[in-house]
Amino acid sequence: MADYGKMKAEFEANGQDRVFAHWDRLTREERDELLADCEKVDFAWLAARWNEFTNGAAGIDLSSLQPAPIVELPRNQAEGGKDRQAIAVGEELLRAGKAAAFLVAGGQGTRLGFPGPKGCYPLGPVSDKTLFAWHAEQIRARAARYGKVIPWYIMTSRDNDAETRRYFTENGHLGLDPADVFFFMQDMAPSLDFEGRLMLASPSRLAMNPNGHGGSLRGLCSSGALADMRARGIEYIGFFQVDNPLVTIADPRFLGWHVLGGAEMSSKVLEKNAPGEKIGVACVLNGKNAVVEYSDLDEATMNARDATGRLKFWAGSIAIHIGDVSFVERVGGEALLPWHQARKKVAYFDGEKTVKPDKENAVKFETFVFDAIPFAERSVNLEVRREHEFAPVKNAVGVDSAESSRLLLSNYFGEWLAAAGVDVPGGAGRYGEAITIEISPLYSLDAGELASKVRPGGFLPGRSLLLG
Ligand code: UTP
Repeated sequence: MADYGKMKAEFEANGQDRVFAHWDRLTREERDELLADCEKVDFAWLAARWNEFTNGAAGIDLSSLQPAPIVELPRNQAEGGKDRQAIAVGEELLRAGKAAAFLVAGGQGTRLGFPGPKGCYPLGPVSDKTLFAWHAEQIRARAARYGKVIPWYIMTSRDNDAETRRYFTENGHLGLDPADVFFFMQDMAPSLDFEGRLMLASPSRLAMNPNGHGGSLRGLCSSGALADMRARGIEYIGFFQVDNPLVTIADPRFLGWHVLGGAEMSSKVLEKNAPGEKIGVACVLNGKNAVVEYSDLDEATMNARDATGRLKFWAGSIAIHIGDVSFVERVGGEALLPWHQARKKVAYFDGEKTVKPDKENAVKFETFVFDAIPFAERSVNLEVRREHEFAPVKNAVGVDSAESSRLLLSNYFGEWLAAAGVDVPGGAGRYGEAITIEISPLYSLDAGELASKVRPGGFLPGRSLLLG
């Protein structure tokens, strides 16, 4: 354990000794806790971040920005043929056990405001099944279809690691073999108040946030996850986020296009629903493939149209990626990713109690995994249908909430049933308004599998349907 005297002197020299203000009141364990947090503070890093914040982050020079090449949804027979070829390649890789699922679940989920890890949120439209359970069922079903284990790597962070692991243990690892579920924790980054000072979250803890999903690259390397993948013969890592129940995990189509494109890191994209939709755009920046966050685009770029009237930067990234194991090995251990800053409301200890501020009081620093794309030799952007792949749960109510996500799921399953010849009330695109439908991935992974199980001509009585 670090020496208090030395630590205090170092913090004093950097104008940060305020964090020891309550030292005399701390128990022995609390002192150890605080020293452990302080040991992780890197003052050179902190000075660099503060400098970026006060001088305004350099901002991205958009002058070279061009739309990225996109593998669009098939529009004709020939393209349909190529798509099927890619699916076949992906299926072969799944049969060979070459793909892993990688979930980033270390975020704080502040907008949703759910007490506990976001993955424990009960999202099933009928069953109230948790997000973790959804993902687990899909992984089990796909592994069963291709006859090979799909190991699942899950990144947590300091504040939700224990609870996440407990949830899996108490729930029998959701039907998965515990040997095939690998947890690791990402690193934390200290927040700063608007005077550039470190803050206390409690008398014995620094206010820190998980260092962004970009922290997964280093985490995969340092935790032994990559070594575990190598030992299993895994070559491709499928990144996904905890809050999108429509994600297709270990998607053969995506895998196939990634490999056929000779890519090292690839992304799924969809047509933005408005110029200002809050998702990053797939583009070419300084001659390299990249995703640029919506907040880094200026109005003119965001609204630019091509000759056909379509948004010039129409392809929004939905944070689903494939990365080669060898690519993450090459770039993951190094500090390559730029730091992004965000003004946030950060709870702090005021000497007596923890205060939850009602306005932004701090800056939080994070890296984003898509910032690794420019380091890839090649990258494929694959278009998917929004209504088939994107139902994010970000907010407590309204846009991108649990309610909107459940509706999207019901609609999607309604589409499967209608395609199988079942008379679904509500009509195309509006099934979810008439009936709440949930189909477990263990019952059917896709519309084709469902069609093989239901008889055409049936109709749906009642207001809800649960299959699986
Ligand atoms: P979001 O950017 O939506 O953040 O994360 P969040 O923490 O879940 O929610 P808010 O912004 O506080 O409301 C997208 C995905 O990235 C993961 C999240 O767990 C989620 O799956 N993530 C985010 C991490 O794993 N680590 C991080 O540091 C940040």
